[in-house]
Amino acid sequence: MKVLFVCLGNICRSPLAEAIFKTKAKKIGLSDTFFADSCGTANYHIGDSPDQRTLKNARKNGVEIAHIGRQIAKKDLTEFDRIFAMDRFNLEAILRLAESATERSKVKLIRDFDPIETGDVPDPYHGNEADFQEVFSILDRTIDNLMMNLIK
Ligand code: 4NP
Repeated sequence: MKVLFVCLGNICRSPLAEAIFKTKAKKIGLSDTFFADSCGTANYHIGDSPDQRTLKNARKNGVEIAHIGRQIAKKDLTEFDRIFAMDRFNLEAILRLAESATERSKVKLIRDFDPIETGDVPDPYHGNEADFQEVFSILDRTIDNLMMNLIK
């Protein structure tokens, strides 16, 4: 199963979601079941490494990120089975690229799987360490639930 995580810049939230997902899949022996990737709807950070604050916060939480920024393309909607947007703005941007009901049905807000509170994963780009940690906590619990949902 191919799973894609999408934010705006592809340097903070979605590369973290991808790395958390891969770390959890590995922990439960399902690395070969899933292919996970991430991208941004914007073109600002194509070719860039993730934000240093995201890398540092992820490492503090036991997650290593290996990703280079890329922008979403129409073919992602055909190639991936499930596409998870970090917020409603990016959900709408992804849906504008969809060309069929099948493609549209693959796209969901990631926090639809948050067991505590639904909505957007807040953009931490202009925030501080507490904001990066909040993003980590949201994604950590949400991806636990998401993965259970994908394998059941
Ligand atoms: P991300 O965060 O969408 O979680 O990667 C952002 C990164 C960069 C910018 C905005 C959000 N930016 O405006 O450059």
